Amino acid sequence: MLICKTVAEVRAAVADLRRAGSVGLVTTMGALHAGHMALVAAARADHPSVVATIFVNPTQFGNPADLETYPRTEEADLAMLRAAGVAAVFMPDAGVMYPPGDQTVVETVGLAQAYHGAVRPGHFRGVATVVTKLFNIVGADAAYFGEKDYQQLAVIRRMVADLFIPTAIHGVPTVREADGLAMSSRNVRLTPGDRAAAPVLHRALRAAEDTVRHGGTVEEAAQAIHDILSDEPRATLTGLDIVNVADFTAATGDPTAPIGIMISARFGEVLLIDQKEVTP
Ligand code: PAJ
Repeated sequence: MLICKTVAEVRAAVADLRRAGSVGLVTTMGALHAGHMALVAAARADHPSVVATIFVNPTQFGNPADLETYPRTEEADLAMLRAAGVAAVFMPDAGVMYPPGDQTVVETVGLAQAYHGAVRPGHFRGVATVVTKLFNIVGADAAYFGEKDYQQLAVIRRMVADLFIPTAIHGVPTVREADGLAMSSRNVRLTPGDRAAAPVLHRALRAAEDTVRHGGTVEEAAQAIHDILSDEPRATLTGLDIVNVADFTAATGDPTAPIGIMISARFGEVLLIDQKEVTP
């Protein structure tokens, strides 16, 4: 497995890999877990070569403390990627991604402000900007993103369509712990009490799914989530958005087509997100 620190190194590695066929890309911020590895496995199934990136992107963190405390487990990450058959890893320093004088941003102006973006101003601009840079650097045929970060996936699909970026985007279902908690690099920062409480997010999503499956409205599904979360004092609901899967507009009333439910909640200092797609 090649470890590349510069743009020239990763471009040379990809040019070489192209001789064996197509190249799949998995972008990460490290602290890898089975969720990330599901993306790698999906990419490996479709392409002879997979490139992974590890970069804790400063421009998508609103809160400097969150950036500072973001877990970093480089040795373990590289061992996992190597074992999964990744051909090359790009792990640039911040100065490579944002050299002096850098001033260009990429923003899906509507979607970036909506829903989760309203709670985290600037977050999706940082994501779209860094992912555009990574796409342009690596030049992969396809890239794999988790459905867990549901709005992020929608932002990336929108951006790739709008900017005619020739990288196909694939969504991969959320990988969960046995108790239903969506795997996240942030889970290790939960206190034991908060960790025990955190599966409430998945329980709430399942209750909302049941509501819709039994003919309930979007508003009733939202109420089911509020009811379950209000019984868990450790969780503070920070966002609940229900959208039409087809176009990411807000869903209301009686759903007739698939909806996506996005939820975010704070447990102590740690913000967790989760999602579920429901077909009525
Ligand atoms: P990160 O949080 O490291 O996630 C990297 C990728 O793994 C994302 O596509 C995310 O959706 C996916 N992922 C995380 N947890 C998952 C789970 N439990 N199941 C399935 N997929 C999961 O998302 C980012 O990094 C950054 O915003 C990035 C896209 C790298 C840009 O900086």
